[in-house]
Amino acid sequence: MRFKAVSHRIIQSAMSIPWFARLSGSVLIGSYESRGARHHAEWGRLHPFDQLYGVDTSGFVPGFLLGSTVRTGYAGAQPGIIRKALTVIPDPQQCHFLDLGCGKGRPLLIATEFGFPAITGVEISPGLARIARRNASIMADAYPDRTRIDIVTADATKYRLPEESLVVFLYNPFDRPLMERFLGNIEASLRRSRRTFYIIYYNPVFAGILDASSALERRYAAQIPYDPGELGYGPDATDAVVIWQNRGNPHPLPPGQPDAAVTIVVPDLRAELTA
Ligand SMILES: C[S@@+](CC[C@H](N)C(=O)[O-])C[C@H]1O[C@@H](n2cnc3c(N)ncnc32)[C@H](O)[C@@H]1O
Repeated sequence: MRFKAVSHRIIQSAMSIPWFARLSGSVLIGSYESRGARHHAEWGRLHPFDQLYGVDTSGFVPGFLLGSTVRTGYAGAQPGIIRKALTVIPDPQQCHFLDLGCGKGRPLLIATEFGFPAITGVEISPGLARIARRNASIMADAYPDRTRIDIVTADATKYRLPEESLVVFLYNPFDRPLMERFLGNIEASLRRSRRTFYIIYYNPVFAGILDASSALERRYAAQIPYDPGELGYGPDATDAVVIWQNRGNPHPLPPGQPDAAVTIVVPDLRAELTA
């Protein structure tokens, strides 16, 4: 037990060394795949987003290296798909953007393009949080007029949601029990304080849990293609995104087919939408 804790600490420290983070993903793939999980070498390639901005958001890190409660690994969401999803939000200037399970912070870096007045990432792995902070500071140096990014190292299921208008971004951070616990946090937070609230769920493998909540309603769902220049930098050619709002939120329905059925392609790991 003690050995496990010490080795976790050593790995977390080494994770902030960019070449280690990338290498650990590649070297441990065999072990990860032998657990029946899905990995594709495309995640290991240096993404054009990183080449353009000089940041480090590429790579794949298996969940078991990130923390004892982490069931899914790290991989960055596709920038083109994040941008399309953020375009659906009608009032970014009035919302705090929060990525729960922010990993190396790619969605946070993209959120700086949209005028959110506050941008926060919460990440359980101290090693990935350190990389996210470094990326945030590279972006702040390049774009000093944009909103600063805050990174909090914490378990997102225990994080108290800020009581202001929020856009919460999720890309597969939780397993089913954690997602259920997280929904409980959302419902309690909405009871405490009514405000504009959106959840953007990228690869919504537990969409059913949010669909079943009386506090939320689905407003948007789309299977979004990768930008052509990003093909080959992730394992697929399209990814699913579903957006919920709190009930009673008066904003007009954005385009998309909100009622599209979510099909689970790989249990807990891959969801796709069918019209
Ligand atoms: C698939 S990655 C997504 C990273 C980032 N959101 C993105 O889209 O590029 C999921 C991340 O969630 C993190 N995570 C898993 N469980 C968590 C928890 N309970 N609290 C905070 N972060 C968690 C993992 O360490 C991993 O970095």
